[in-house]
Amino acid sequence: MTSPAPASALTQDELKAQVGRAALAHVVKGEIVGVGTGSTVNKFIDALATIKGDIRGAVSSSVASTERLHALGIPVFDSNEVEELAVYIDGADEIDGRGYMIKGGGAALTREKIVAAQSRRFVCIADSSKRVNTLGGFPLPVEVIPMAAQRVVRQFARLGGMAQVREKDGVALVTDNGQHIIDVTGLRITDPLGFESEVNQWPGVVTVGVFAHQRANVCLLGTPSGVQTLRFD
Ligand code: A5P
Repeated sequence: MTSPAPASALTQDELKAQVGRAALAHVVKGEIVGVGTGSTVNKFIDALATIKGDIRGAVSSSVASTERLHALGIPVFDSNEVEELAVYIDGADEIDGRGYMIKGGGAALTREKIVAAQSRRFVCIADSSKRVNTLGGFPLPVEVIPMAAQRVVRQFARLGGMAQVREKDGVALVTDNGQHIIDVTGLRITDPLGFESEVNQWPGVVTVGVFAHQRANVCLLGTPSGVQTLRFD
């Protein structure tokens, strides 16, 4: 018989699986659940498949999550078919002590913000490396209409940020919405609500990856000593 690995030996992947499973406790039976995007959410989707008979289905925030949900036999609804969701479950690239986040490392930020906005609660699932004091260490993703990209890059330069268009296979990455992403380094975002409001009104910006108006209500944080629950309301 083998004994379980000590908690301290848990890999980042195992921490993600842990919080993915823990998120099941926040899924409301008989309802449609909002589903985010990313490697942590993939663990959640795998766990969700074990209780799929208890839910009506999901509203998904990306083509990738939709494909995974379908592959596991979970019905996916168009967001326009559903007025309100009880809960949205998604990862984050950074989360601070107030539940404000940077998201979009997986380029799905716009649809993520849409599904978050139609949900009563946002449950963030993340490993402990994502918890920060001030947002901005992770390059901030911003989805832009391609013709505005260089203008937005120059606007960030005025704020002290260095921005560049995200590439995939040597060409500009194209999002699920047919737009581009710019990633901005060198920012220290001390007023996430004000910053999100300002950048979102720059011409050509589709969505900025600061989630302050759609912040998390709860964060399930995977730590070597177990899942920590951080509450922000
Ligand atoms: C996707 O666009 C992102 O917002 C993800 O939620 C975020 O990047 C976290 O992804 P991981 O769970 O893969 O770290």
